[in-house]
Amino acid sequence: MNMKRRIVLTGDRPTGPLHLGHYVGSLKKRVELQETCETYIMLADAQAITDNYDDINKVRTNIHEVVCDYLAVGIDPKKSHIFVQSCVHELPELAMFYMNLVTIQHLGHNPTVKAECKMRGFNEGVPAGFYLYPIFQVADITAFKADLVPVGLDQAPMLELTRDIVRKFNSIYKKEVLVSPEAIYPNLKGALPGIDGQKMSKSLGNAISLSDEPDVVLKKVKKIQSDPGRKSATDPGDPEKALAFSYLDIFDPEFLFVEELKERYRRGAVSDKEVKDRLIDVLEAFLNPIRNRRKEFHSDPEGVLAIIKEGTRIAKQKAATTLLEVRSAMGINYGNF
Ligand code: TRP
Repeated sequence: MNMKRRIVLTGDRPTGPLHLGHYVGSLKKRVELQETCETYIMLADAQAITDNYDDINKVRTNIHEVVCDYLAVGIDPKKSHIFVQSCVHELPELAMFYMNLVTIQHLGHNPTVKAECKMRGFNEGVPAGFYLYPIFQVADITAFKADLVPVGLDQAPMLELTRDIVRKFNSIYKKEVLVSPEAIYPNLKGALPGIDGQKMSKSLGNAISLSDEPDVVLKKVKKIQSDPGRKSATDPGDPEKALAFSYLDIFDPEFLFVEELKERYRRGAVSDKEVKDRLIDVLEAFLNPIRNRRKEFHSDPEGVLAIIKEGTRIAKQKAATTLLEVRSAMGINYGNF
């Protein structure tokens, strides 16, 4: 049977180091998907610039950092095409045509964009580039004819918009050119909180980065919230309220040991320090090989650049093919001039 390999497209805004939340929520999944799917992983620099246009240096330097994070966790450039969004010129051209299929009013209802505007304090008005980024994201997804898009739940409105535009495009131009994608959301039960209990996020300063050195991890683990109702190791505690257990649930390979530790926590027969010491060991066992691989890649900027170049070359080819189909369906494929 000749089953077409499914296509995966996903991306990150390169604005800072990737952290354990990224690993649990998406990187791990990508490493699995690359085994069976045609995978594209995009450094969404153009999107990052929509709200960092006055700090381009941050975006540029983080491209290299994020690629090192990818490679360190096992994204394999032989299996995944890692590319830079702003170098694929076909993407904004697609977005230009999609803009006709969305109203400004509809864009104004995007809850993620609304929340981001509030967070960024766009009191004087929202930059048009930022307001329109969801349309560009539709171009990112459709250019590769992605079937699967692994993203956080906050990206649901972008996926909905994509399906909307795909349906409109295919119906107006009477050709099944674009593919309607399916999102893959992280398992919410396995979500990893930040060290303060909020969503792990680099902007909230509550993240443990994949590149953190052991002394930094130690400091952060010490800050992790414990059951606030518990004053001493002999007080009964609630492991649900001690965040260290959320981390152990995910990273400790010894499930039974963690269950026993929880049981002792409930009885008041283990200190928070002991729980955290365990967590420090467990995280170190996880992060140490990642950190070492990361350092190897990081010390070879030319090698990393070659990976991005090759990924971008392939991404451009794919996007150009789709763009040609889009222009043909619209009746504006005038030939080569
Ligand atoms: N908006 C995504 C984020 O903030 C990044 C992104 C840009 C993306 N284009 C994409 C994700 C296309 C998936 C598909 O994380």
